[in-house]
Amino acid sequence: MRAIIHGFDTRKNCVYDLDGRASQLAHGILLETLSIAATAFGCRSDIRHLDELENGEHQRYEVTLVPCDTVAPSPLAEFIRTRSVQRRPMTTRTIDPAVIRALEDAARPLGVKWFFTAGERWKVARLNFSNAEVRLTIEEAYEVHRRVIEWGTRFSNDRIPEAAVGIDPLTARMMKWIMHDWNRVSFFNRWLAGTFAPRLQLDLIPGLLCGAHACLHADEALDTAGRTVEAGRAIARFWLTCSAHALQLQPEMTPLIFARYARERREFTANRVAMELARHNAGRLTDECGIDASKSAWLCRIGHGQAASSRSLRLALPELRSS
Ligand SMILES: Cc1cc2nc3c(=O)[nH]c(=O)nc-3n(C[C@H](O)[C@H](O)[C@H](O)COP(=O)(O)O)c2cc1C
Repeated sequence: MRAIIHGFDTRKNCVYDLDGRASQLAHGILLETLSIAATAFGCRSDIRHLDELENGEHQRYEVTLVPCDTVAPSPLAEFIRTRSVQRRPMTTRTIDPAVIRALEDAARPLGVKWFFTAGERWKVARLNFSNAEVRLTIEEAYEVHRRVIEWGTRFSNDRIPEAAVGIDPLTARMMKWIMHDWNRVSFFNRWLAGTFAPRLQLDLIPGLLCGAHACLHADEALDTAGRTVEAGRAIARFWLTCSAHALQLQPEMTPLIFARYARERREFTANRVAMELARHNAGRLTDECGIDASKSAWLCRIGHGQAASSRSLRLALPELRSS
């Protein structure tokens, strides 16, 4: 069977999709998931990235599934459906060294920089807390949040359901009301410290309450679609390996994204104060956490704990075909 997968990025209307890199990571995650799933059906998948050297908004992937006697079913295949995002606090239970080695193997050729101790986790949590002020005070991100959250639900086919956001029901009700229009958001931010409660619940507390933060990084800058898609494939293996060891995961990508904007001196918002804060945070990412945003593919927190009881589902195949 042969198929062409068309991946369209959202760089024009999503501040987080800088140069389409976040979408290209997601394409890589999709392709790796597909390859792993194919092994369960005795197939090898030959994948050709047709636009590897261009950085267009439209990337195409030719996928050929070849029945093959020598293909063994991947042990990760059974975790494709359970892999999900856990944005709520996890436990601080130590992650077994053998599991750490398995995760590092899964992430290859990417390397993994770990933040295990309370002091190390505090550094990342504090940075996330400050970074969230950028995220919550710029209208460009507000437009994205308004589009992607589905209020009042536990499951959503194509968005993030309210219950998966990681806030308590009272804060959720307040956020929903405030997010009705940008004037309300900026009023609350300016006069009523409106970002404090969500930043505490979404960034600082979860940042401390986890087993570790992990930064997956390449040896060279991730500045082509080809390299970024390959990094996405490694991320999929890492994430599925977490699920295989009953570890929860939450991506924490926005500090990397805003640091890239700041490092490349690119304007991403009309809010000067937020731009300045992003520049400051980019310095802290390097100096305090030792992370080089240009080579970093993925920042996340992982840990033992309950699986998320709310999640995004997926569009059904006919809807994907026609969209
Ligand atoms: C490239 C990429 C970046 C992401 N960044 C974040 C992030 O910074 N914070 C977060 O909470 N979730 C992040 N996510 C998770 C998505 O929001 C999540 O995958 C989506 O809501 C679907 O949920 P599921 O993975 O549980 O099915 C990211 C996902 C991808 C693929």
